[in-house]
Amino acid sequence: MKVLLFTGLGALLFAYYWDDNFDPTRLRGARVLLTGASAGVGEELAYHYARLGSHLVLTAPTEALLQKVVGNCRKLGAPKVFYIAADMASSEAPEHVVQFALDKLGGLDYLVLNHMGSTPAGMRVRSAQTTRWLMQVNFLSYVQLTSRALPSLTDSKGSLVVVSSLLGRVPASFSIPYSAAKFALDGFFGSLRRELDVQDVNVAVTLGVSRARTAPGPQAALAVIRGGATRASGVFYPWRLHLLCLLRGWLPRPPAWFVRQDLNVSAAAAA
Ligand SMILES: NC(=O)c1ccc[n+]([C@@H]2O[C@H](COP(=O)([O-])OP(=O)(O)OC[C@H]3O[C@@H](n4cnc5c(N)ncnc54)[C@H](OP(=O)(O)O)[C@@H]3O)[C@@H](O)[C@H]2O)c1
Repeated sequence: MKVLLFTGLGALLFAYYWDDNFDPTRLRGARVLLTGASAGVGEELAYHYARLGSHLVLTAPTEALLQKVVGNCRKLGAPKVFYIAADMASSEAPEHVVQFALDKLGGLDYLVLNHMGSTPAGMRVRSAQTTRWLMQVNFLSYVQLTSRALPSLTDSKGSLVVVSSLLGRVPASFSIPYSAAKFALDGFFGSLRRELDVQDVNVAVTLGVSRARTAPGPQAALAVIRGGATRASGVFYPWRLHLLCLLRGWLPRPPAWFVRQDLNVSAAAAA
């Protein structure tokens, strides 16, 4: 009986997380604007899309890094790759970047929002000035890019793919501005998804959640791409984060001594 129960539960989880009808050939020729493409998860996303034959516009602030990624994408078989260097701390940059992508690709099927500015001096930053800057880079620029790209995505029945974090679902210590921006993304894109449904607009909104403090790597990037291509509303990498997010309301707050031990700090150092 127990074996049957576990097998059934396993099959259900497998069906939920893996049987997603992902058809990689549908990404061939797809027009993708990808942010934060010069490093980390964004670089891995760029390489996957390149292998799958998508047409790419890549953006990030550092031109030299973008040029390297563009070169690698070409070697991997991307038929068209363009780049535009832009710093999303500037309120004009999002408009400019989307316009560039529309001019180069003639429209968009995917807007993949992944870039992230980090706070200086570790994560113990509570000042309004730093939070304002980070909100522009990690949240408001996402809103601006989305609102500028939405008409084209509506025409193409395209997808918005947003790379978020566990810290946008579960609060954590010493990450206030980062976490605030990620929670804001969850609110904005969750509400946008509902509005688009009500308006009968066929644009998918996928939010990817992965864990902080572990380099997510190529598998996480592939999970995000699968989620976007199958129009899933959420992607959790690793999958067990989904359970953590679902249980969040019932989980007790971790005791301070546990957090200090986890972060390897004393109470005095944390103050
Ligand atoms: N790595 C993790 O453990 C982890 C865990 C959970 C979630 N995530 C999420 O995954 C996404 C990517 O994270 P990552 O770890 O790959 O980051 P990363 O390696 O630090 O790369 C950040 C990317 O964002 C760009 N960027 C930095 N400042 C920017 C600005 N002001 N304007 C525009 N672009 C800017 C960087 O460009 P330059 O190279 O030019 O600076 C780079 O391309 C983020 O949304 C993050 O929240 C990551």
